[in-house]
Amino acid sequence: MKQRIVIIGFGTVGQGFCEILLNKKEFLKKQYGLKWEIVGIADKAYGNVYNAKGIDVPFLLEEAKAKKQFSKDASKWDTLTLIKKSKADIVCELTYTDLKTGEPAYTHCKEALKSGKHVVTSNKGPAALHYRKLIKLADKYGLHFRIEGTVVAGTPILNLAAGPLAGCEITRIRGILNGTTNYMLTEMEKGMSYAEVLKVAQELGYAEADPTGDVEGYDARGKVTILANVVMDGQLDIDNIPCRGITGITSSDIHTAKEHGKRWKLIGTVEMKDGKVTGSVAPEMIDLTHPLAGVMGATNALTFTTDLLGDVTMVGPGAGRWQTGFAILNDVLTIDSAY
Ligand SMILES: NC(=O)c1ccc[n+]([C@@H]2O[C@H](COP(=O)([O-])OP(=O)(O)OC[C@H]3O[C@@H](n4cnc5c(N)ncnc54)[C@H](OP(=O)(O)O)[C@@H]3O)[C@@H](O)[C@H]2O)c1
Repeated sequence: MKQRIVIIGFGTVGQGFCEILLNKKEFLKKQYGLKWEIVGIADKAYGNVYNAKGIDVPFLLEEAKAKKQFSKDASKWDTLTLIKKSKADIVCELTYTDLKTGEPAYTHCKEALKSGKHVVTSNKGPAALHYRKLIKLADKYGLHFRIEGTVVAGTPILNLAAGPLAGCEITRIRGILNGTTNYMLTEMEKGMSYAEVLKVAQELGYAEADPTGDVEGYDARGKVTILANVVMDGQLDIDNIPCRGITGITSSDIHTAKEHGKRWKLIGTVEMKDGKVTGSVAPEMIDLTHPLAGVMGATNALTFTTDLLGDVTMVGPGAGRWQTGFAILNDVLTIDSAY
């Protein structure tokens, strides 16, 4: 069947996902039998469009890149009406992350599921704060709520745990879950101070004007919450997870680590002990021999400790237009293959 898709939030990831669909249209059809149509987009900046027969994606991509309001297939429906009334099979929720309330994405996901549509999202808000409720709702209606892009973009962490590692008991997950802070620690090791490297990270677009979410560890804590609750079936509340970022790390700390054959990394940890799941985020000095120590720059990585395989480490990008667009595509392919 042809997957009719609605996209909510047409920024970096929404546009990247559409570019992949267009660039790989023939490959996706030939290799996986995927047929698709984008029938609607809702975006705060560019407006809402809908056409049950399919919208003109290349044209709308051009308009978005030129920062113009959409001028074709404009819809009078507001975003929630588009989610509820559109004739779509899958809603891709790609608006901004709010780790305090999960909104507006939580309402978007909930209404999409209630109106019979699968949901795919890279938005950590609903996944970290409302996963249990949303997966329950999806199960109730026989639908998918898929979230691969919420942890380390397209690097297939959640799929790895659910698929290839199925049968192993995962007792611990430790990872570099935030590319900005890993980039900063890498550059500090080359001699820059915290203040200098933060400025460079902001100039390069790695860190936002307000870097709090990254440097205080809150972004990593969102991902720890998702890993704990999705992979380890925990019941962790994001606000109760101990969290310390890298703001206290000085050039002298970096030097001391080097002297001891170690390296500072901001590590997110999830552990299962005596049936209880715990999580934390904190900077740690790790041995240079550990696989995570060699992960430099904006790259992310996770080590799963398992009963049958021992440690399994996956390294890959944690952000990016196509890197995250790929996660959305992969979840869409999973849904398509189930029908
Ligand atoms: N970029 C990455 O590499 C990456 C990686 C992993 C996960 N993610 C997550 O994926 C999601 C999308 O990221 P992104 O980088 O594409 O963000 P983005 O570039 O900021 O795009 C989000 C888009 O959604 C629009 N929007 C905001 N509120 C909306 C609403 N209520 N209804 C409809 N549209 C709305 C925004 O418009 P305005 O600009 O006018 O607000 C913007 O155009 C985020 O939750 C992010 O945390 C991103």
